[in-house]
Amino acid sequence: MRVVLVGPPGAGKGTQAQFIASHLSIPKISTGDIFRTNVSQGTALGRRAQAFMERGDLVPDEVTIAMVTDRLQEDDTQSGFLLDGFPRTVPQAETLKKMLASWDTRLDVVLELVVDDDEVVRRLSGRRTCRRCGRVWHVLFDPPARRDKCDDCGGELFQRDDDREETIRHRLEVYQEQTAPLVAFYADEGILLGIDATGPVDEITERALSALRRFIR
Ligand code: AP5
Repeated sequence: MRVVLVGPPGAGKGTQAQFIASHLSIPKISTGDIFRTNVSQGTALGRRAQAFMERGDLVPDEVTIAMVTDRLQEDDTQSGFLLDGFPRTVPQAETLKKMLASWDTRLDVVLELVVDDDEVVRRLSGRRTCRRCGRVWHVLFDPPARRDKCDDCGGELFQRDDDREETIRHRLEVYQEQTAPLVAFYADEGILLGIDATGPVDEITERALSALRRFIR
């Protein structure tokens, strides 16, 4: 199954992506995670992306598209994939469509996670991420047992540079300007499915999976 998750920053894409991908036995491909790994390793790609990410702006399309094109050619994507954070602009979506068509395939479904801006700010301002395993926590909504340590692996928790309130507001503007048009794009393609992404995490996962079951080929 080939799935895209779309939704504003903090909608819970990363949180849900790990459960959905594991349930469907497909790889989760998160462009944000790939960029952050490259930034922390100081690669050329990371140096190129860092300033855009810290400001809450999108990394230029040509950089992101080249990175995703490489990733989608790896063997583990043969039976499907779940994209988290890509596409994020209409040109990225058009390129993805052409790329998949050239491989005789297409997306099955685009799942939109719907939440409002106030909830986004609440979620992102309390987010903490494990430096070792990448697990995402929240200081109020999903707190680890020890304040600065990951329950899963004991790794150190950190707050993302782009999770300051003014940067969150900017990311929301960028989402409205550049990413929200994808909702109409995929509605026109007939593959958009929106779900309410508020409430307990496990209920949202169940909502997502029952919506996706209709599209399993
Ligand atoms: P990226 O990492 O993709 O950031 P984002 O889209 O802004 O999404 P987030 O990771 O902030 O949020 P999320 O929806 O995954 O929420 P999460 O599950 O963590 O991208 C970062 C940057 O990389 C971009 O700004 C850009 O610069 C660059 N980039 C990436 N892709 C790009 C592309 N295609 N083109 C160009 N540039 C690109 O949840 C958030 C918090 O809420 C967590 O603390 C979690 O515990 C909590 N939470 C989750 N669900 C619930 C719930 N149901 N109730 C309460 N709390 C919850």
